[in-house]
Amino acid sequence: MSGLIPQRFVEDLLDRVDLAELIGSRITLKKAGASYKACCPFHDEKTPSFNVRPDKGFYHCFGCGAHGDAISFVREFQGLGFTDAVEELARRAGLEVPYDQAARQEMQQARTLTDALDFASRFYQAALHGQQGSFARDYLYQRGLDDEVIRRYQVGYAPASGTALFDAADRDLQGPLIETGTVSDKYGRPRDLFRNRVMFPLRNSRGRTIAFGGRTLGDDKAKYINSPESDVFHKSREIYGLFEAKQALKQVDKLLVVEGYMDVIALAQHGIHYAVATLGTATNQDSLTALLRQARHIVFCFDGDQAGFRAADRAMENALELMADGLHLQFLMLPEGEDPDTLVRKEGPAAFQKRIDGATPLSRYLFDRQSEGLDLQLPENRGELRARTEPLLNKMPRSTLRDAMWHEMLRLCGGRNQWQGRQSRQWDQWKGNRRDRVTEERIDVKLSKDSILCLALLEAPDLASEVAELAKNSRQYAQAGNFAGFILERDIRHRKSLITILALDDRAREQFYHLFDGIEHIPARESTLAAARELLSPNEEAARQQRLATLLRNFANLTAEQRQELRELSGGTPD
Ligand code: UTP
Ligand code: MN
Repeated sequence: MSGLIPQRFVEDLLDRVDLAELIGSRITLKKAGASYKACCPFHDEKTPSFNVRPDKGFYHCFGCGAHGDAISFVREFQGLGFTDAVEELARRAGLEVPYDQAARQEMQQARTLTDALDFASRFYQAALHGQQGSFARDYLYQRGLDDEVIRRYQVGYAPASGTALFDAADRDLQGPLIETGTVSDKYGRPRDLFRNRVMFPLRNSRGRTIAFGGRTLGDDKAKYINSPESDVFHKSREIYGLFEAKQALKQVDKLLVVEGYMDVIALAQHGIHYAVATLGTATNQDSLTALLRQARHIVFCFDGDQAGFRAADRAMENALELMADGLHLQFLMLPEGEDPDTLVRKEGPAAFQKRIDGATPLSRYLFDRQSEGLDLQLPENRGELRARTEPLLNKMPRSTLRDAMWHEMLRLCGGRNQWQGRQSRQWDQWKGNRRDRVTEERIDVKLSKDSILCLALLEAPDLASEVAELAKNSRQYAQAGNFAGFILERDIRHRKSLITILALDDRAREQFYHLFDGIEHIPARESTLAAARELLSPNEEAARQQRLATLLRNFANLTAEQRQELRELSGGTPD
């Protein structure tokens, strides 16, 4: 790895970095208008004077004067050299740093790709507002947009002539225009990709243009054409309308994901500013990750037709793996034949907002969809529902949401009378599906000592006498003491029989189910027993005494091995 890093690469890289996201992943940022504030990471302070301007690509501290871009931030914050800082940013962006000596000269002279795309965007906007754009302008007005929203989304017009953009560009922009695909040179001579189209520029977090979508105004076969992927445009990571949403709103807490450019703009026209579109791939993992990085609450909007439901299913399935607690996903299925653009114009923003608010949460969408067409009175269908949903739930990371959805599955799959009560479900879960919840290796710090002993009794009822003994002397083990008393009274020695008794005996269940209520993650058997062992024998000497006592109590029935153990414990004294 040697040689200089091409300046153009560095600039393209900086264009792609979302400074708020980069810095926000290291220190806590608070949004304030177009900038973000924080306590400065480079000097000690109590009131925040550190400012981040993602749109301008720099940060500035009014306290200590620290100032710079993404690269200098990484250098300062992580103590890296220039090359390593660029490497780090490139890694985050999924790019490889081109250390190309030969191309160096040429690249340094070239303008950046975003320069070329910004130029194209300005050109298209000027064309829309010029003479040749009058038809396009009328078209947009007739679709309900006004000048204000057209300006905010930088909507433009690509003239019909084959090389209008190319001819308007300076020589040093022509190369980059070709490289971004905005001008094609497929046929040996340059030709604009977009002709006689309404242009929708896609802007990155800094507001730089990185691609276009163009809608035909004629009867072109392709209704929309989109820029091809380039060094600055990676389709599945980009979100159309996000920059504009962030500009319009103080804080983007919620995103409404729609399908089309026109849907985004029509909604903004009606005051719904948090609509965005992914570029035909709303449902893949990259897009979902990109969306969830921006907001914890996402509402997906889909057509209410078959294809719409299939797309929603795909989004739901891909989202499951990402569903941590605190994320909220909803699905809004529109009436067939409508899209957000037509609907919001037809029924107005208030009615549309109502639809958004009433969108189906992911958990309900999943069960509704999977049980569609199944009459759950029939046991076979309940089995079918379980076979469908279990693998889906297994994709989810451990979370309260996942546990709650397990409950829901069991409720739906159970017969009506048998599993009515919440307690039955709880024990059913212990009985049948416990394995699915036992994934947490370590003991949750929130678990009380009392709860740990209760869990341990469930794992090993034969600990009951030890637990009862301990509880006798300490009030903090009241619950475990009770539970142990119950086990001793019924003379239960095996885990399976304990669980069966609890599942079948209503009174016992009533008495004890609450011990386990609210325990979200059940630790693995080994961890539970080890933790209980520690509580039961706080030090080695006590453990030795206890073991000694047990062995002596059973002296008559000891095995040869146990006799040996007894000898060792008692310091070699006689039989
Ligand atoms: P639609 O066909 O639903 O168009 O495509 P639309 O958004 O409702 O547009 P209008 O209302 O007819 O003007 C939805 C989205 O799918 C992509 C575009 O991103 C479009 O906004 N698309 C559609 C393409 O990329 N290419 C196409 O040929 C059609
Ligand atoms: Mn439409």
